[in-house]
Amino acid sequence: MKTLASLVALLVYITLASAQSAEFGQCGGIGWTGATTCVAGNTCEVLNPYFSQCLPGSSSVSSVSSASATSTASGGLPTSTSTAFTDTVAKAAGKLYFGSATDNPELPNAEYVAILDQNAYFGQITPGNSMKWDATEPEQGVFTFSGGQQIVSLAQANNQLIRGHNCVWYNQLPSWVEDGTFTVAELTEIIQTHCGTLVGNWKGQIYAWDIINEPFNDDGTWRSDVFFDTLGESFIPIALEAAAAADPNAKLYINDYNIESAGAKSAAMMELVQTLKANGTPIDGIGFESHFIVGEVPTDIQATMEAFVALGVEVAVTELDVRMTLPETAALLEQQQKDYQTVVSACNAVPGCVGVTIWDYTDLYSWIPGTFPGQGAACPWDANFVKKPAYDGIIAGFA
Ligand code: G3I
Repeated sequence: MKTLASLVALLVYITLASAQSAEFGQCGGIGWTGATTCVAGNTCEVLNPYFSQCLPGSSSVSSVSSASATSTASGGLPTSTSTAFTDTVAKAAGKLYFGSATDNPELPNAEYVAILDQNAYFGQITPGNSMKWDATEPEQGVFTFSGGQQIVSLAQANNQLIRGHNCVWYNQLPSWVEDGTFTVAELTEIIQTHCGTLVGNWKGQIYAWDIINEPFNDDGTWRSDVFFDTLGESFIPIALEAAAAADPNAKLYINDYNIESAGAKSAAMMELVQTLKANGTPIDGIGFESHFIVGEVPTDIQATMEAFVALGVEVAVTELDVRMTLPETAALLEQQQKDYQTVVSACNAVPGCVGVTIWDYTDLYSWIPGTFPGQGAACPWDANFVKKPAYDGIIAGFA
C-alpha cells in the first residue's frame, strides 16, 4: 500500500514537472498551447501578447514586475531603493516618455529583454545602431530594414514610442558614401533617396527622427565630412525636407553632444535653428545627447533647454549616460545619482523638454568601456541588472 502511494505521488510529480516550462522557456502567448506554469523559482511573465516567458524570481503580472532587485551589487556597493518606475513617473510629470536605447545583438539575452520590455520602465526605445546608414543602405540603392524592424516590432509589441536614429551622420557610413566623390546634384539625390526611403519605410510609426546627427565640431564650426564638404550647410535642409515629405507626422530632430550648456557649439546650433525657421525648413526638435562624466554635469542645462525652446523647437535628452573612472566606489555612485537627477530635473522643469532617453539601461551593454578604456559604469542598471543609486536619481528628477 505504501509502495503504491509512493508510485502515485511520483507519477503526479512527473506529470506536474513536465507540465511546467523551464527557466527562460515560453509559458504563454497568442497561439501557445504548451505549459503555462514555470519550474520552481520562476514566474511566468507576459512580455508581449505573443510571448510569455519563465523568468527567475518572483514578479507581478503584465508589463510591470517587481521594482526591487533580485540580486545585489557586488562589493557592498549601494543600490537603488526606489519602488517607482521611470516611465510611470516621467508620464506623471507630464513628459511623453522615459526611454532607453537598445541594440540587436542584445536581444537574445532574455534577462535583458525582460526588463527592456517593461513599459513602466521604458515608454520609448531607440535603436542604437540598426537604423544607421551602414546598416540600412550598405550599397547604393540596396536597403535593408530587418535590424531596425526587429526593434520597431519589439517596441510596438510593448506599446513603446520609437525614436529613429539616424539619417545623416559622418560616422558609420558605408564606404560608398564616406569615400565617394560626388557632384552637388549627385549627393543631393543620394541624401534625398536615403532619408526619404528610411523615414518612409516606417511612416506613421516613429515618434521622432534624428535626421541630422552631430553636424558641429566642439568649437561651433561645421564638421568636415562628405556632406558638408560637398554641399555646405545645404545638406541640412535637403535631408530635413526629404524626411518631412516621407513622414509628415514624425518630429524631425537635429541631435548633438556638448550642446547642453552655453558655449560656441550650442550657439552654433541655436543659429542653425533660427536659420532653418527663418527659411521655413521643417525642424521640430533638438536632441541633447548628454554623454556626461560623474561630477562634471553642466549646471545650466535647464537654461540651455529654455533657450532652444524659445526658438520654437522641442528638446529631448536623447542619449544620457554618466561615466566614471573605474573601479566604482560608493562615493562615485552617489555622485552619479546626483548627476542623473540634475539632468532629469532640468528636463522636468522645461515644458518643452518631451522626454529622457538613456543610452542603454545596463552597464552590460554600454558603449563606454569600448570607447573610453578604464571608464564605465555609466548606466542606471549595473551589468548584473541590479538598479544603482542612479536609478533613484532619475526617479527624484521627475518629482
Ligand atoms: O557591425 C560591426 C560588426 O560587423 C563587427 O564584427 C564588430 C566588431 O567590433 O563591430 C561592429 O560595429 C560596431 C557597431 O557599434 C555595431 O555594433 C562598431 O565596432 C562600434 O564602434 C559601434 O559603436 C557604436 C557607436 O555609436 C559608433 O560610433 C555604438 O554601439 C553606439 O552605441 C554609438 O552610438 C552613438 C550614437 O549613434 C551617436 N551619439 C554617440 C553615441 C555613442 O558613441
